Amino acid sequence: MTPAFRILCCSRVCPWVWRTAWAASIGFFFLAALAGENPPRYLHFDEVRETLLLNADSGLPGSEIKEGAAWDAWIRARDAEVRGRIDRGVEDSISNLILYGASFTSLPRVESVEFAATESGELRPAAVARIHALALALASGAKDERVGFVRDFLARKGIGRNFEESYFTGNLRRFIAEQAGYQKKLEDAAKGRDPSSVYLARGTLFETRGLSVDTSLLPNFALEETLRAMIRKGALTAESMRRIAVIGPGLDFTDKRDGYDFYPLQTLQPFAVLEAVARLDLGKPEDLEVVCLDLNSAVIAHIQKLAERGRAGEAYTVELPRDPRAEWSPEAISYWKNFGEILGSPRKPLPVPASLGGVAVRAVAIRGQFAARIQVYDANIVAETLDFPPGQGFDLIVATNVLVYYNRLEQALAMANIARLLNPGGIFLANHPLPSEHASDLRYLGRRTTAFTPSGVYGDDVVVYRRR
Ligand SMILES: C[S@@+](CC[C@H](N)C(=O)[O-])C[C@H]1O[C@@H](n2cnc3c(N)ncnc32)[C@H](O)[C@@H]1O
Repeated sequence: MTPAFRILCCSRVCPWVWRTAWAASIGFFFLAALAGENPPRYLHFDEVRETLLLNADSGLPGSEIKEGAAWDAWIRARDAEVRGRIDRGVEDSISNLILYGASFTSLPRVESVEFAATESGELRPAAVARIHALALALASGAKDERVGFVRDFLARKGIGRNFEESYFTGNLRRFIAEQAGYQKKLEDAAKGRDPSSVYLARGTLFETRGLSVDTSLLPNFALEETLRAMIRKGALTAESMRRIAVIGPGLDFTDKRDGYDFYPLQTLQPFAVLEAVARLDLGKPEDLEVVCLDLNSAVIAHIQKLAERGRAGEAYTVELPRDPRAEWSPEAISYWKNFGEILGSPRKPLPVPASLGGVAVRAVAIRGQFAARIQVYDANIVAETLDFPPGQGFDLIVATNVLVYYNRLEQALAMANIARLLNPGGIFLANHPLPSEHASDLRYLGRRTTAFTPSGVYGDDVVVYRRR
């Protein structure tokens, strides 16, 4: 049993609960006050001047800017362009739902994107049948949360009843072609002489892709393992963290890896990071605050709601699927088995649809007092920042599977932003390579690989930076 878990189970539980309730109420009013007074604002030219200079020769849009007025105009336009990619990300999530979803049809899932279309890009009958099934579910008035989400999205886009299937078909074909493009980019990189070129190509793999919200459990395992390794090396000390930021927490629409949809939409990372910090004694669970920054309205609304319910004492239940055929490592399985041990208690999981036979599931009800500690801002990390009073910056910022959607200059701008949001000595973790031409306030500490499977084929490379 971890030390933090023992705290909850021992006789100190009563005073702890009272202290937590008291701290939560003070903390909540403080956070609410901050949220009101502290709206996100665009980064100022002075805050990115160094980054622009470092990238002046990159040829990337924006790198030529030399003064404030041009910057102010450019960053506003860029923010709009970035946000313009959100709907394409939703369309990608709908394509995943079509291929893998089990909530709206009992048709067999398509094994993977490659099996959904011919080489010339024509959809195969299995994919066409699943598109038709989703259209039928929409027409039937099914109450399913994801089907409702698709219905609302189509209504917002003005896609009428008779056009749904052709809309889904066009999107799915685009999605499949884009996936093939990413694969080719990696294969081309592998042909080069430099052994690190595949790794580097991964860093900006999705720089033009729609901004998807999908999320899953295991990147959080890699984050926790990295923090653990840093403690072993003496790079982190006990109780050094209180305020945590999660950039792009995501929403599990059709689970990113496996496409599961048999449970309600959920977010995992804010809780996973909170629990990692508590489990490793880097912070006291009753003191920790988690601030999320995201630009997707569905993610923001979801987190606002869970925090509001948490303040009313309601638990937040997460479902944790694991496909035994995916051959997770014993350490990854152990992480899955223990997820939530500090923040909540096990619940009976939802039944797994017959078509997904064999999938193991755990469910955890996270206590309301922890859900209440999550706060969210609508902010684009590439363009917008927040102003906190001195000492109220972050001790830890994580951004996994977020900056991979941006080019090297946008990544460097996000890093300048992250540097100013961190407290001195604060840590920033991401899970893909980031540019070396970044703000001097951030010092690169290294990279750690966490394998999710014994073969190491599936895993995450976490890069670590410290604010000077
Ligand atoms: C693919 S999901 C990753 C979710 C989670 N971090 C994970 O690793 O599973 C990307 C998330 O980042 C958010 N996002 C994308 N670009 C962003 C930006 N510029 N600023 C803030 N959030 C962003 C998306 O809305 C989404 O919630």
